[in-house]
Amino acid sequence: MRPAALPKTGRDKEDILRELRNYQKDDPSYERGRVWSLVYYLGAEHDSLLQEAYNYYFSANALNPMAFKSLKRLENEIIWITAALLHGDGNVCGVMTSGGTESCLLAVKTYRDYARAEKGTKNPEMILPQTAHVAWEKGGEYFGVKPVYVPLDDDYKVDVEAVKRLINKNTIMILGSAPDYPHGIIDPIEELGRIGESRGIPVHVDACLGGFILPFIEKLGISLPKWDYRVPGVTSISADLHKYGFAAKGASTITYRSLDILKYQMFVSTEWPGGVFASPALLGTRPGGAYAAAWASLQALGEDGFVSITKQVIESTRKLMEGIRAIPGSKVIGRPQASIFSFRSIDANLNIFAVADQMEQKGWHMDRLQKPDAIHVTVTPAHSAVIEEYLTDLKNSVEYVRKHPESAASGSAATYGMIAHIPLRRMVKKQVLEMFAQLYGPEGKMINMTSSVPGEENEGGIPTGHEESDKTPGREAPGLLNRIIAAYVKLRQSRE
Ligand SMILES: Cc1ncc(COP(=O)(O)O)c(C=O)c1O
Repeated sequence: MRPAALPKTGRDKEDILRELRNYQKDDPSYERGRVWSLVYYLGAEHDSLLQEAYNYYFSANALNPMAFKSLKRLENEIIWITAALLHGDGNVCGVMTSGGTESCLLAVKTYRDYARAEKGTKNPEMILPQTAHVAWEKGGEYFGVKPVYVPLDDDYKVDVEAVKRLINKNTIMILGSAPDYPHGIIDPIEELGRIGESRGIPVHVDACLGGFILPFIEKLGISLPKWDYRVPGVTSISADLHKYGFAAKGASTITYRSLDILKYQMFVSTEWPGGVFASPALLGTRPGGAYAAAWASLQALGEDGFVSITKQVIESTRKLMEGIRAIPGSKVIGRPQASIFSFRSIDANLNIFAVADQMEQKGWHMDRLQKPDAIHVTVTPAHSAVIEEYLTDLKNSVEYVRKHPESAASGSAATYGMIAHIPLRRMVKKQVLEMFAQLYGPEGKMINMTSSVPGEENEGGIPTGHEESDKTPGREAPGLLNRIIAAYVKLRQSRE
Protein backbone atom coordinates (compact mmCIF):
# COMPACT_ATOMS: atom_id res chain seq x y z
CA MET A 1 0.00 0.00 0.00
CA ARG A 2 1.18 3.51 -0.71
CA PRO A 3 1.98 5.59 2.40
CA ALA A 4 -0.71 8.24 1.78
CA ALA A 5 -4.46 7.72 1.51
CA LEU A 6 -7.51 9.90 2.02
CA PRO A 7 -8.11 9.98 5.81
CA LYS A 8 -11.25 8.12 6.82
CA THR A 9 -12.41 11.12 8.81
CA GLY A 10 -11.43 14.75 8.44
CA ARG A 11 -8.52 16.10 10.48
CA ASP A 12 -8.19 19.18 12.68
CA LYS A 13 -7.01 22.40 11.14
CA GLU A 14 -4.07 22.65 13.58
CA ASP A 15 -3.05 19.09 12.88
CA ILE A 16 -3.15 19.68 9.11
CA LEU A 17 -1.20 22.91 9.27
CA ARG A 18 1.40 21.39 11.57
CA GLU A 19 1.96 18.57 9.13
CA LEU A 20 2.25 20.95 6.19
CA ARG A 21 4.91 22.92 8.05
CA ASN A 22 6.68 19.70 8.87
CA TYR A 23 6.72 18.72 5.18
CA GLN A 24 8.55 21.99 4.50
CA LYS A 25 11.33 21.50 7.00
CA ASP A 26 13.99 20.38 4.52
CA ASP A 27 13.11 22.94 1.83
CA PRO A 28 15.73 25.62 1.13
CA SER A 29 15.26 28.84 3.06
CA TYR A 30 14.51 31.60 0.57
CA GLU A 31 13.70 34.00 3.42
CA ARG A 32 17.35 33.80 4.49
CA GLY A 33 18.61 34.27 0.94
CA ARG A 34 19.82 30.68 0.48
CA VAL A 35 18.12 30.22 -2.91
CA TRP A 36 19.52 31.94 -6.03
CA SER A 37 16.58 31.46 -8.41
CA LEU A 38 12.96 30.26 -8.12
CA VAL A 39 11.80 32.68 -5.41
CA TYR A 40 11.54 36.49 -5.36
CA TYR A 41 10.99 37.28 -1.70
CA LEU A 42 10.38 40.77 -0.47
CA GLY A 43 9.68 40.07 3.18
CA ALA A 44 6.88 38.93 5.48
CA GLU A 45 4.89 42.17 5.25
CA HIS A 46 4.69 42.08 1.45
CA ASP A 47 3.83 38.36 1.54
CA SER A 48 1.04 39.04 3.96
CA LEU A 49 -0.46 41.66 1.61
CA LEU A 50 -0.23 39.20 -1.30
CA GLN A 51 -1.93 36.53 0.76
CA GLU A 52 -4.77 38.82 1.81
CA ALA A 53 -5.32 40.09 -1.71
CA TYR A 54 -5.18 36.52 -3.02
CA ASN A 55 -7.76 35.49 -0.44
CA TYR A 56 -10.29 38.07 -1.61
CA TYR A 57 -10.31 36.37 -5.01
CA PHE A 58 -9.46 32.91 -3.79
CA SER A 59 -12.46 31.26 -5.50
CA ALA A 60 -13.00 33.70 -8.33
CA ASN A 61 -12.40 32.37 -11.84
CA ALA A 62 -11.26 34.49 -14.76
CA LEU A 63 -12.29 31.78 -17.25
CA ASN A 64 -15.36 33.78 -18.19
CA PRO A 65 -14.51 37.50 -18.23
CA MET A 66 -18.24 38.26 -18.34
CA ALA A 67 -18.84 36.58 -14.96
CA PHE A 68 -16.24 38.13 -12.64
CA LYS A 69 -16.04 41.59 -14.14
CA SER A 70 -13.74 42.73 -11.37
CA LEU A 71 -11.15 40.21 -12.55
CA LYS A 72 -11.28 41.54 -16.09
CA ARG A 73 -10.79 44.99 -14.63
CA LEU A 74 -7.75 43.82 -12.67
CA GLU A 75 -6.37 42.10 -15.76
CA ASN A 76 -6.89 45.25 -17.88
CA GLU A 77 -5.16 47.44 -15.32
CA ILE A 78 -2.22 45.05 -14.97
CA ILE A 79 -1.81 44.84 -18.76
CA TRP A 80 -1.99 48.63 -19.16
CA ILE A 81 0.56 49.21 -16.38
CA THR A 82 2.84 46.59 -17.97
CA ALA A 83 2.44 48.05 -21.47
CA ALA A 84 3.33 51.53 -20.21
CA LEU A 85 6.44 50.22 -18.42
CA LEU A 86 7.46 48.54 -21.67
CA HIS A 87 6.97 51.84 -23.56
CA GLY A 88 4.03 50.50 -25.53
CA ASP A 89 1.49 52.91 -27.00
CA GLY A 90 -2.27 52.78 -26.52
CA ASN A 91 -2.59 49.93 -29.04
CA VAL A 92 -0.54 47.46 -27.04
CA CYS A 93 -2.84 44.78 -25.63
CA GLY A 94 -2.48 41.41 -23.99
CA VAL A 95 -3.53 38.86 -21.41
CA MET A 96 -2.44 37.58 -18.04
CA THR A 97 -1.10 34.06 -17.93
CA SER A 98 -0.11 31.59 -15.25
CA GLY A 99 3.63 32.13 -15.73
CA GLY A 100 6.51 32.67 -18.08
CA THR A 101 6.18 29.29 -19.70
CA GLU A 102 2.54 29.86 -20.60
CA SER A 103 3.43 33.28 -22.04
CA CYS A 104 6.20 31.77 -24.19
CA LEU A 105 4.04 28.85 -25.33
CA LEU A 106 1.31 31.27 -26.35
CA ALA A 107 3.69 33.32 -28.47
CA VAL A 108 4.75 30.17 -30.35
CA LYS A 109 1.12 29.21 -31.01
CA THR A 110 0.14 32.76 -31.95
CA TYR A 111 2.94 33.29 -34.46
CA ARG A 112 2.45 29.82 -35.93
CA ASP A 113 -1.22 30.61 -36.59
CA TYR A 114 -0.43 34.15 -37.73
CA ALA A 115 2.10 32.89 -40.30
CA ARG A 116 -0.26 30.13 -41.40
CA ALA A 117 -3.12 32.58 -41.99
CA GLU A 118 -1.16 35.54 -43.35
CA LYS A 119 1.55 33.75 -45.34
CA GLY A 120 0.37 30.16 -45.73
CA THR A 121 3.41 28.83 -43.80
CA LYS A 122 3.12 25.05 -43.52
CA ASN A 123 6.43 24.04 -41.91
CA PRO A 124 6.98 26.73 -39.30
CA GLU A 125 10.41 27.47 -37.83
CA MET A 126 11.43 29.95 -35.14
CA ILE A 127 14.82 31.55 -34.66
CA LEU A 128 16.02 31.15 -31.07
CA PRO A 129 19.25 32.24 -29.40
CA GLN A 130 21.05 29.24 -27.89
CA THR A 131 20.33 30.79 -24.50
CA ALA A 132 16.55 31.07 -25.07
CA HIS A 133 14.63 29.74 -22.09
CA VAL A 134 13.75 26.08 -22.45
CA ALA A 135 10.05 27.04 -22.52
CA TRP A 136 10.62 27.94 -26.20
CA GLU A 137 11.86 24.47 -27.02
CA LYS A 138 8.85 23.11 -25.17
CA GLY A 139 6.55 25.38 -27.18
CA GLY A 140 8.16 24.17 -30.40
CA GLU A 141 7.55 20.56 -29.38
CA TYR A 142 3.94 21.20 -28.29
CA PHE A 143 2.94 23.25 -31.31
CA GLY A 144 5.00 21.69 -34.08
CA VAL A 145 7.33 24.62 -34.66
CA LYS A 146 10.96 23.77 -35.39
CA PRO A 147 13.44 25.66 -33.22
CA VAL A 148 16.43 26.93 -35.20
CA TYR A 149 19.18 27.74 -32.71
CA VAL A 150 21.54 30.63 -33.27
CA PRO A 151 25.06 30.59 -31.80
CA LEU A 152 26.22 33.34 -29.47
CA ASP A 153 28.90 35.94 -30.04
CA ASP A 154 31.90 36.38 -27.72
CA ASP A 155 29.76 38.35 -25.27
CA TYR A 156 27.16 35.59 -25.08
CA LYS A 157 24.63 37.64 -27.07
CA VAL A 158 22.85 36.12 -30.02
CA ASP A 159 24.97 36.39 -33.17
CA VAL A 160 23.03 38.79 -35.38
CA GLU A 161 24.78 37.81 -38.63
CA ALA A 162 23.89 34.18 -37.97
CA VAL A 163 20.25 35.20 -37.40
CA LYS A 164 20.21 36.76 -40.87
CA ARG A 165 21.64 33.61 -42.42
CA LEU A 166 19.18 31.29 -40.70
CA ILE A 167 16.00 33.08 -41.77
CA ASN A 168 14.05 31.38 -44.53
CA LYS A 169 10.51 31.32 -45.92
CA ASN A 170 9.36 29.14 -42.99
CA THR A 171 10.53 31.56 -40.27
CA ILE A 172 7.51 32.61 -38.21
CA MET A 173 9.29 34.61 -35.51
CA ILE A 174 12.64 35.74 -34.13
CA LEU A 175 13.32 35.66 -30.40
CA GLY A 176 15.55 37.82 -28.24
CA SER A 177 15.85 37.61 -24.44
CA ALA A 178 15.97 40.57 -22.08
CA PRO A 179 17.80 39.08 -20.34
CA ASP A 180 18.32 35.34 -20.84
CA TYR A 181 17.99 33.01 -17.88
CA PRO A 182 21.36 31.23 -17.95
CA HIS A 183 23.72 34.24 -18.01
CA GLY A 184 21.50 37.31 -17.63
CA ILE A 185 22.60 38.81 -20.94
CA ILE A 186 20.34 41.11 -22.97
CA ASP A 187 20.31 40.14 -26.66
CA PRO A 188 20.77 42.94 -29.24
CA ILE A 189 17.05 43.62 -29.57
CA GLU A 190 17.45 46.75 -31.72
CA GLU A 191 19.32 44.76 -34.34
CA LEU A 192 16.87 41.88 -34.17
CA GLY A 193 14.03 44.41 -34.53
CA ARG A 194 15.62 45.87 -37.65
CA ILE A 195 16.01 42.41 -39.17
CA GLY A 196 12.41 41.49 -38.32
CA GLU A 197 11.04 44.71 -39.70
CA SER A 198 12.97 44.53 -42.95
CA ARG A 199 12.03 40.89 -43.54
CA GLY A 200 8.42 41.14 -42.32
CA ILE A 201 9.02 38.68 -39.45
CA PRO A 202 7.61 39.22 -35.94
CA VAL A 203 10.12 39.69 -33.11
CA HIS A 204 9.24 38.54 -29.60
CA VAL A 205 11.21 39.73 -26.58
CA ASP A 206 11.29 37.26 -23.71
CA ALA A 207 11.43 39.64 -20.77
CA CYS A 208 9.93 37.13 -18.36
CA LEU A 209 12.90 37.80 -16.12
CA GLY A 210 13.64 41.40 -17.00
CA GLY A 211 10.18 42.87 -17.60
CA PHE A 212 9.81 44.28 -14.10
CA ILE A 213 13.42 45.17 -13.37
CA LEU A 214 14.94 46.56 -16.58
CA PRO A 215 12.51 49.53 -16.70
CA PHE A 216 13.55 50.49 -13.17
CA ILE A 217 17.25 50.04 -13.88
CA GLU A 218 16.79 52.68 -16.57
CA LYS A 219 14.90 54.90 -14.13
CA LEU A 220 17.97 54.71 -11.88
CA GLY A 221 19.84 56.46 -14.68
CA ILE A 222 21.73 53.36 -15.81
CA SER A 223 21.72 53.21 -19.58
CA LEU A 224 20.67 50.01 -21.31
CA PRO A 225 20.35 49.18 -24.98
CA LYS A 226 16.71 49.53 -26.10
CA TRP A 227 14.89 46.26 -25.65
CA ASP A 228 11.14 46.94 -25.49
CA TYR A 229 8.36 48.52 -27.63
CA ARG A 230 10.67 51.49 -28.32
CA VAL A 231 12.25 49.16 -30.86
CA PRO A 232 9.93 49.38 -33.88
CA GLY A 233 10.32 45.75 -35.00
CA VAL A 234 9.35 44.29 -31.60
CA THR A 235 5.86 42.83 -31.94
CA SER A 236 5.36 41.19 -28.54
CA ILE A 237 6.87 40.90 -25.06
CA SER A 238 6.44 38.41 -22.22
CA ALA A 239 7.01 39.81 -18.71
CA ASP A 240 6.47 37.91 -15.47
CA LEU A 241 4.86 39.45 -12.44
CA HIS A 242 5.79 36.49 -10.25
CA LYS A 243 9.48 37.23 -10.71
CA TYR A 244 10.67 40.84 -10.26
CA GLY A 245 7.04 42.02 -10.01
CA PHE A 246 7.08 40.33 -6.56
CA ALA A 247 3.61 38.89 -7.09
CA ALA A 248 2.34 35.52 -5.89
CA LYS A 249 3.21 32.56 -8.10
CA GLY A 250 0.99 32.14 -11.14
CA ALA A 251 1.22 35.59 -12.74
CA SER A 252 2.78 36.64 -16.03
CA THR A 253 1.79 38.80 -18.98
CA ILE A 254 2.01 38.54 -22.72
CA THR A 255 1.43 41.73 -24.66
CA TYR A 256 1.34 42.40 -28.40
CA ARG A 257 1.95 45.59 -30.31
CA SER A 258 -1.43 45.19 -31.94
CA LEU A 259 -4.70 43.34 -31.62
CA ASP A 260 -4.17 42.07 -35.18
CA ILE A 261 -1.61 39.63 -33.76
CA LEU A 262 -3.21 38.96 -30.37
CA LYS A 263 -6.36 37.67 -32.05
CA TYR A 264 -4.37 34.65 -33.28
CA GLN A 265 -3.85 33.66 -29.67
CA MET A 266 -7.59 33.27 -29.08
CA PHE A 267 -9.45 29.98 -29.14
CA VAL A 268 -13.15 29.82 -29.99
CA SER A 269 -15.43 26.80 -30.16
CA THR A 270 -18.97 27.20 -31.44
CA GLU A 271 -20.16 23.59 -31.34
CA TRP A 272 -19.36 22.37 -27.82
CA PRO A 273 -22.49 21.15 -25.99
CA GLY A 274 -21.20 23.12 -23.00
CA GLY A 275 -21.94 26.28 -24.95
CA VAL A 276 -20.08 28.64 -27.25
CA PHE A 277 -16.66 28.89 -25.66
CA ALA A 278 -13.86 31.40 -26.06
CA SER A 279 -10.51 31.48 -24.31
CA PRO A 280 -7.67 33.98 -24.61
CA ALA A 281 -4.87 31.80 -23.21
CA LEU A 282 -3.87 28.20 -22.45
CA LEU A 283 -5.70 27.61 -19.19
CA GLY A 284 -9.41 26.99 -18.76
CA THR A 285 -9.99 28.02 -15.17
CA ARG A 286 -7.82 31.06 -14.48
CA PRO A 287 -6.95 31.82 -10.84
CA GLY A 288 -8.44 35.14 -9.70
CA GLY A 289 -6.27 35.16 -6.59
CA ALA A 290 -3.07 35.41 -8.64
CA TYR A 291 -4.45 38.44 -10.51
CA ALA A 292 -5.47 40.18 -7.30
CA ALA A 293 -2.11 39.52 -5.66
CA ALA A 294 -0.23 40.77 -8.74
CA TRP A 295 -2.34 43.90 -8.85
CA ALA A 296 -1.80 44.43 -5.12
CA SER A 297 1.96 44.08 -5.54
CA LEU A 298 2.08 46.75 -8.25
CA GLN A 299 -0.10 49.09 -6.17
CA ALA A 300 1.86 48.50 -2.96
CA LEU A 301 5.28 49.15 -4.46
CA GLY A 302 4.51 51.87 -6.96
CA GLU A 303 7.26 53.29 -9.14
CA ASP A 304 9.26 54.56 -6.14
CA GLY A 305 9.15 51.18 -4.45
CA PHE A 306 10.31 49.35 -7.57
CA VAL A 307 13.10 51.86 -8.13
CA SER A 308 14.41 51.56 -4.58
CA ILE A 309 14.23 47.75 -4.62
CA THR A 310 16.03 47.74 -7.96
CA LYS A 311 18.75 50.00 -6.57
CA GLN A 312 19.31 47.64 -3.67
CA VAL A 313 19.35 44.59 -5.96
CA ILE A 314 21.76 46.17 -8.45
CA GLU A 315 24.13 47.22 -5.65
CA SER A 316 24.12 43.66 -4.29
CA THR A 317 24.69 42.26 -7.79
CA ARG A 318 27.69 44.52 -8.39
CA LYS A 319 29.19 43.65 -5.01
CA LEU A 320 28.74 39.97 -5.71
CA MET A 321 30.19 40.17 -9.21
CA GLU A 322 33.21 42.14 -7.98
CA GLY A 323 33.81 39.61 -5.21
CA ILE A 324 33.59 36.70 -7.64
CA ARG A 325 35.87 38.38 -10.19
CA ALA A 326 38.43 38.82 -7.40
CA ILE A 327 38.59 35.06 -6.79
CA PRO A 328 41.47 33.70 -8.89
CA GLY A 329 40.28 31.16 -11.44
CA SER A 330 36.67 32.31 -11.54
CA LYS A 331 35.07 34.41 -14.25
CA VAL A 332 31.71 36.12 -14.69
CA ILE A 333 30.28 35.12 -18.07
CA GLY A 334 29.72 37.91 -20.60
CA ARG A 335 28.74 41.40 -19.49
CA PRO A 336 25.49 41.09 -17.54
CA GLN A 337 23.58 44.37 -17.25
CA ALA A 338 20.88 43.47 -14.79
CA SER A 339 20.71 41.35 -11.63
CA ILE A 340 21.19 37.91 -13.14
CA PHE A 341 24.57 36.44 -14.02
CA SER A 342 26.64 33.29 -14.04
CA PHE A 343 30.25 32.47 -13.29
CA ARG A 344 32.57 29.68 -14.26
CA SER A 345 36.05 28.39 -13.70
CA ILE A 346 38.84 29.34 -16.08
CA ASP A 347 41.34 27.19 -14.24
CA ALA A 348 41.58 23.56 -15.35
CA ASN A 349 42.30 22.58 -11.75
CA LEU A 350 39.18 24.18 -10.38
CA ASN A 351 36.00 22.22 -11.01
CA ILE A 352 33.04 24.60 -10.69
CA PHE A 353 30.58 21.81 -9.88
CA ALA A 354 32.83 20.66 -7.03
CA VAL A 355 32.70 24.26 -5.77
CA ALA A 356 28.90 24.10 -6.01
CA ASP A 357 28.93 20.90 -3.93
CA GLN A 358 30.97 22.62 -1.23
CA MET A 359 28.57 25.57 -1.25
CA GLU A 360 25.63 23.21 -0.84
CA GLN A 361 27.29 21.65 2.17
CA LYS A 362 27.40 25.15 3.62
CA GLY A 363 23.63 25.46 3.14
CA TRP A 364 23.33 27.31 -0.18
CA HIS A 365 20.99 26.06 -2.88
CA MET A 366 23.03 26.12 -6.09
CA ASP A 367 21.94 26.27 -9.74
CA ARG A 368 24.30 24.54 -12.14
CA LEU A 369 24.54 25.39 -15.82
CA GLN A 370 26.10 23.57 -18.75
CA LYS A 371 27.74 24.71 -22.00
CA PRO A 372 29.82 26.08 -20.33
CA ASP A 373 29.75 24.53 -16.85
CA ALA A 374 28.85 27.39 -14.56
CA ILE A 375 26.86 28.54 -11.55
CA HIS A 376 23.80 30.73 -12.02
CA VAL A 377 22.81 33.61 -9.76
CA THR A 378 19.55 35.59 -9.69
CA VAL A 379 19.94 38.36 -7.11
CA THR A 380 16.85 39.46 -5.16
CA PRO A 381 16.29 41.71 -2.14
CA ALA A 382 16.60 38.67 0.14
CA HIS A 383 20.30 38.49 -0.80
CA SER A 384 21.42 41.95 0.34
CA ALA A 385 22.14 40.68 3.84
CA VAL A 386 24.07 37.59 2.74
CA ILE A 387 26.43 38.81 0.01
CA GLU A 388 29.48 38.83 2.30
CA GLU A 389 28.63 35.43 3.73
CA TYR A 390 28.18 33.98 0.23
CA LEU A 391 31.51 35.40 -0.92
CA THR A 392 33.35 34.08 2.14
CA ASP A 393 31.84 30.65 1.66
CA LEU A 394 32.67 30.77 -2.04
CA LYS A 395 36.32 31.66 -1.38
CA ASN A 396 36.58 28.85 1.15
CA SER A 397 34.89 26.42 -1.23
CA VAL A 398 37.28 27.36 -4.03
CA GLU A 399 40.24 26.89 -1.70
CA TYR A 400 38.92 23.52 -0.58
CA VAL A 401 38.49 22.29 -4.15
CA ARG A 402 42.01 23.44 -5.06
CA LYS A 403 43.37 21.49 -2.12
CA HIS A 404 41.15 18.49 -2.84
CA PRO A 405 41.07 18.02 -6.61
CA GLU A 406 39.62 14.57 -6.02
CA SER A 407 36.35 16.29 -4.98
CA ALA A 408 35.68 16.85 -8.70
CA ALA A 409 35.25 13.12 -9.13
CA SER A 410 32.57 12.67 -6.50
CA GLY A 411 29.17 13.99 -5.49
CA SER A 412 27.13 15.93 -7.97
CA ALA A 413 30.35 17.35 -9.47
CA ALA A 414 30.89 13.93 -11.02
CA THR A 415 27.31 13.39 -12.12
CA TYR A 416 26.58 16.89 -13.43
CA GLY A 417 29.99 17.14 -15.01
CA MET A 418 29.52 13.82 -16.72
CA ILE A 419 26.00 14.57 -17.89
CA ALA A 420 27.04 17.93 -19.29
CA HIS A 421 29.75 16.33 -21.37
CA ILE A 422 28.20 13.10 -22.55
CA PRO A 423 28.00 13.54 -26.31
CA LEU A 424 25.02 11.21 -26.81
CA ARG A 425 22.25 13.62 -25.94
CA ARG A 426 19.49 11.30 -27.16
CA MET A 427 20.59 8.73 -24.61
CA VAL A 428 20.65 11.35 -21.88
CA LYS A 429 17.13 12.39 -22.89
CA LYS A 430 15.87 8.81 -22.74
CA GLN A 431 17.33 8.26 -19.29
CA VAL A 432 16.03 11.54 -17.92
CA LEU A 433 12.60 10.70 -19.30
CA GLU A 434 12.77 7.43 -17.44
CA MET A 435 13.63 9.27 -14.22
CA PHE A 436 10.66 11.52 -14.66
CA ALA A 437 8.45 8.56 -15.37
CA GLN A 438 9.50 7.21 -11.97
CA LEU A 439 8.95 10.55 -10.30
CA TYR A 440 5.39 10.75 -11.60
CA GLY A 441 4.78 7.01 -11.78
CA PRO A 442 2.60 5.00 -9.39
CA GLU A 443 5.13 5.14 -6.56
CA GLY A 444 5.99 8.84 -6.94
CA LYS A 445 9.67 8.15 -6.31
CA MET A 446 11.76 11.14 -5.36
CA ILE A 447 14.81 11.73 -7.51
CA ASN A 448 18.16 11.48 -5.83
CA MET A 449 20.77 13.12 -8.00
CA THR A 450 23.89 11.49 -6.65
CA SER A 451 23.31 8.16 -4.93
CA SER A 452 24.29 4.89 -6.53
CA VAL A 453 21.73 2.48 -7.88
CA PRO A 454 20.82 -0.05 -5.18
CA GLY A 455 21.51 -3.56 -6.27
CA GLU A 456 23.46 -2.43 -9.28
CA GLU A 457 27.20 -2.33 -9.57
CA ASN A 458 28.85 0.93 -10.32
CA GLU A 459 29.49 -0.34 -13.79
CA GLY A 460 31.85 2.24 -15.09
CA GLY A 461 33.90 2.39 -11.94
CA ILE A 462 32.94 6.03 -11.73
CA PRO A 463 32.82 7.32 -8.16
CA THR A 464 29.22 7.88 -7.12
CA GLY A 465 29.80 10.46 -4.42
CA HIS A 466 27.62 10.94 -1.38
CA GLU A 467 25.35 7.98 -0.97
CA GLU A 468 22.69 10.12 0.58
CA SER A 469 19.23 8.76 -0.13
CA ASP A 470 15.66 9.91 0.07
CA LYS A 471 14.34 9.29 3.56
CA THR A 472 10.65 8.91 2.79
CA PRO A 473 9.68 5.36 3.78
CA GLY A 474 9.11 3.16 0.76
CA ARG A 475 10.24 5.93 -1.59
CA GLU A 476 13.89 5.25 -1.97
CA ALA A 477 14.91 6.35 -5.44
CA PRO A 478 18.02 4.96 -7.05
CA GLY A 479 20.84 7.29 -8.07
CA LEU A 480 19.10 8.25 -11.23
CA LEU A 481 21.73 10.37 -12.83
CA ASN A 482 24.17 7.57 -12.26
CA ARG A 483 22.02 5.48 -14.54
CA ILE A 484 22.92 7.84 -17.32
CA ILE A 485 26.57 7.46 -16.55
CA ALA A 486 26.23 3.68 -16.29
CA ALA A 487 24.30 3.52 -19.59
CA TYR A 488 26.90 5.70 -21.27
CA VAL A 489 29.82 3.71 -19.95
CA LYS A 490 28.13 0.46 -21.00
CA LEU A 491 27.57 1.83 -24.47
CA ARG A 492 31.16 2.99 -24.76
CA GLN A 493 32.43 -0.37 -23.56
CA SER A 494 30.25 -2.19 -26.09
CA ARG A 495 31.77 -0.07 -28.85
CA GLU A 496 35.36 -0.61 -27.80
C1 LIG B 1 13.73 34.29 -19.71
C2 LIG B 1 12.72 33.34 -19.16
N1 LIG B 1 11.66 32.97 -19.91
C3 LIG B 1 10.72 32.13 -19.46
C4 LIG B 1 10.78 31.59 -18.19
C5 LIG B 1 9.74 30.62 -17.72
O1 LIG B 1 9.04 31.17 -16.63
P1 LIG B 1 8.20 30.29 -15.62
O2 LIG B 1 9.19 29.51 -14.81
O3 LIG B 1 7.45 31.30 -14.84
O4 LIG B 1 7.31 29.41 -16.40
C6 LIG B 1 11.87 31.94 -17.37
C7 LIG B 1 12.01 31.38 -16.04
O5 LIG B 1 12.97 31.58 -15.34
C8 LIG B 1 12.86 32.84 -17.86
O6 LIG B 1 13.90 33.18 -17.13
